[in-house]
Amino acid sequence: MQSTMDLGNASQIVSQIIEPIDLTTLESSQMAQLEPNAPVLRIIGKAKLSGHVPISGAKNSILALMAGTLLSSEGCRIRNVPNLADVQRMSDILETLGVKISRNGEVLDLDTSNLTTNSAPYELVSKMRASFFAVGSLLARLGSAKIPLPGGCAIGARPVELHVRGLQSLGAFVQIDHGIVHAHAMSPNGRLQGAKIYLDYPSVGATETLMMAATLAEGQTIIENAALEPEVVDLADLCMAMGAKIRGAGTSTIIIDGVEKLHFADFTAIPDRVEAATFMVAAAITRSTLSMSPVIPAHLTAAISKLQDIGVTVRQDSDNMITVIGGDNYRAVDIETLPYPGFPTDMQAQFMALLTICEGNGVVTETVFENRLQHVAELNRMGANIRLKNNVAVVTGVPQLSGAPVMATDLRASAALVIAGLAADGETTVMGLHHLDRGYDRIEEKLRNVGAKLYRTTEAIPV
Ligand code: EPZ
Repeated sequence: MQSTMDLGNASQIVSQIIEPIDLTTLESSQMAQLEPNAPVLRIIGKAKLSGHVPISGAKNSILALMAGTLLSSEGCRIRNVPNLADVQRMSDILETLGVKISRNGEVLDLDTSNLTTNSAPYELVSKMRASFFAVGSLLARLGSAKIPLPGGCAIGARPVELHVRGLQSLGAFVQIDHGIVHAHAMSPNGRLQGAKIYLDYPSVGATETLMMAATLAEGQTIIENAALEPEVVDLADLCMAMGAKIRGAGTSTIIIDGVEKLHFADFTAIPDRVEAATFMVAAAITRSTLSMSPVIPAHLTAAISKLQDIGVTVRQDSDNMITVIGGDNYRAVDIETLPYPGFPTDMQAQFMALLTICEGNGVVTETVFENRLQHVAELNRMGANIRLKNNVAVVTGVPQLSGAPVMATDLRASAALVIAGLAADGETTVMGLHHLDRGYDRIEEKLRNVGAKLYRTTEAIPV
């Protein structure tokens, strides 16, 4: 039984975790994923948290915003940009296209005046799906684009036929040859032509790709059954700041009146609602009180409502700050992921970690991605009681999770395992941190600053 400890910092934490990590319980396939000397996160559970957590800029907005900067030759400044692996990947891709990028803290300056190619390299695009969104802005800016198919990832096949069909509606000739999407505007003047597009599914990426492409098309484009996510609205706001004419972003019908040219914009990205929800669940599962800002409460309606149904208190302190107050008795709830404003799929894994210690049975149905329940096996290794059938997980609450070595399988699953480790009895070792670093900026530092006891093995341990 782990005695309660008052550990102030990483060096003290180290003094408590000096025995070697017992990896014998991991399957060999999981071990195979580990690179030699890969960093791991070691967490001593059951620490109470308190204080304020700073929320960074939204990864899923910023990646689209960066693609949107290609629409103008006059460059762009994006503020509130966290230090994330995915942001670095998108920067690498834009730089291969000829964009010059300089970063000063959380400000990115992008010089887009001289694009040197219309072709993005496979080895970069294959690592991050969001890079495919650049096909829309490249096509609009240059009249042609060559982007590798992004391919699948841990959570699903991630096809792009909605993007492709939409671009074809806008007058692009699109051919997929050996895994490369070749697209060019067919009109003699090299411009796309406005069109009415209906999306079979309110795809976030397809909405963003097509909205960007339409900003410079000739005539009007109407996107029906568009995604309503806040990140789509943020991208529309950037494009309008650059001079685009867009109406209806945030509704299922977006109308874009094409213009000839866009100009420079200095733009601040919205805060990350998924990061905020992750810390909200961390407060709930450790039965702590945490404040966090900046947030946009309206972006967190589903998460707040579910936490309140479970028995967690959520207080709105101001228009950009909330406080989450954990309780003693939680009751299980059902969760079904849906397009916005439904319950976000990006928050499903984190909430499942919380459900593992709620009284009763919670049914979690993942409807957005076909393979986004891989964290179930790892949570069960920590003593959770979750039964899985296809895209439905039945979570039966247990009194206490137990620390264990666990392997992250994807970005939000890794966040769920960290959260579970904060509440578990004993030590949890989270491996596969390359997933976590895609979407969270300094998560262990932010957690340690509010009392969590965890550290990354590659960190220099203060003596
Ligand atoms: C965005 O992905 C986000 N990523 C995802 O966040 C998020 O989970 C997802 O939207 C849903 O909210 C970024 O914004 C960079 P979709 P996206 O197109 O655009 C299918 C995270 O953890 N589909 O709305 O790729 C698709 O396979 C990441 O931060 C098609 O079938 O999501 C999926 O099942 C993960 N054909 C569903 O639609 C298409 O042409 C939703 O995908 C496009 C999508």
